[in-house]
Amino acid sequence: MHHFDYRGGILHAEGVSLARIAGEVGTPFYCYSSATLQRHYKVFDQAFESMDHMVCYSPKANSNLAVMKTLGDLGAGADVVSEGELRRALAVGIAPDKIVFSGVGKTAAEMRFALETGISCFNVESEPELDLLSQVASGMGVKAAVSIRVNPDVDAGTHEKITTGLAHNKFGISYARAGEVYARAAALGGIKIAGVDMHIGSQITDLEPFSKAYTLMAELVEMLRAAGHTIEHLDMGGGLGIPYRGTNDIPPHPDEYAAMIKRTVGHLGCKLVFEPGRMIAGNAGILVTKIIYAKPSEGRTFLIADAAMNDLIRPTLYDAFHDIWPVDEALKAVPAITGDLVGPVCESGDYIARERSLPDAKAGQMLAVLSAGAYGAVQAGTYNTRLLVPEVMVHGDDYAVVRPRQTYEELIGLDELAAWQ
Ligand code: LLP
Repeated sequence: MHHFDYRGGILHAEGVSLARIAGEVGTPFYCYSSATLQRHYKVFDQAFESMDHMVCYSPKANSNLAVMKTLGDLGAGADVVSEGELRRALAVGIAPDKIVFSGVGKTAAEMRFALETGISCFNVESEPELDLLSQVASGMGVKAAVSIRVNPDVDAGTHEKITTGLAHNKFGISYARAGEVYARAAALGGIKIAGVDMHIGSQITDLEPFSKAYTLMAELVEMLRAAGHTIEHLDMGGGLGIPYRGTNDIPPHPDEYAAMIKRTVGHLGCKLVFEPGRMIAGNAGILVTKIIYAKPSEGRTFLIADAAMNDLIRPTLYDAFHDIWPVDEALKAVPAITGDLVGPVCESGDYIARERSLPDAKAGQMLAVLSAGAYGAVQAGTYNTRLLVPEVMVHGDDYAVVRPRQTYEELIGLDELAAWQ
């Protein structure tokens, strides 16, 4: 559920007209609804209210400070994957003891910073990482709390680029070797074993793969405990999918996900950590773009918009489907066209929607690309020397620019000429 709806014939974010924002901020822009972010966080958090748990929002989905602050104020922790994300979490006041650090390539400097900060746990992904972490922690005279990310070799049934729990993926250590690696971790002076971690992928719309992975996780915990390890918490990862096609693909509700988790790992008495990203932010954001030209071509129409693959890479990179709504509701009454919504970037892979039924928009009219709140602005780039687009956040009848549009001075000013030029 989200808070983007038509009021008086114009698409609104909560109480604010997107036409008004476009008039004041220009296009393209990302627009986030704070009510939707809050709602999604609460629905997820409340699904686990009967269990000891901690929701660590994954800022990789959307790390805008205003988004993170909205969630932090509701009690969210953070699942960070870089020093940069950790600094963002701290900047919005998320307590270090609600922060976990994931990712396959943590550097010694990042480990040191995280240990100084006093984060809750490192999700360790390999043996060399375990050795380095132990070394860094010992050097600081502390012990690093760790969960080892175990790869269960379960097919999450999602796009190959966002599947992470298969044996050939770079993530985690193999399930078969988990016992051995935990024994090794226990013998390291700078390591304190705290839990077990799994994450099998993203945009998962079926509970079955989760259930398989968590069942394996429960067996592993019994085995580790029998070997004398203390397993206090389970990090269940993120990955719960969202509906990208309106009511046509409804993923499991967090309540169903929670019931399955209770069934699979509830008996272990562990604190549960969750790392949702998309489920919180995905449908809380849209990208608003203006048509520059409508170009009829061989049997199809190209709607050439001012947003492009550099602003929203998901369709190009993951064949992702995003619903497209006109900002002016009257366009809904006009017969749709079949065509492509593309940007100005010089690549045939630059499209936001391809061979789709689209609003018959003319130059100057605006379209909203839905479900763009997760993995949208965070994955934007400046290819073709295009400026990063602004982000705005709506709160009731009010809105704020939470990242101003980049300027050409800022973007081009990042470069320097060499001394000999
Ligand atoms: N935890 C770990 C260890 C992860 O790798 C991820 C996502 C998450 C949590 C959050 O997953 P979520 O709840 O958002 O599904 N850029 C891609 C998605 C990449 C996901 C990477 N890992 C996309 O646009 O679909």
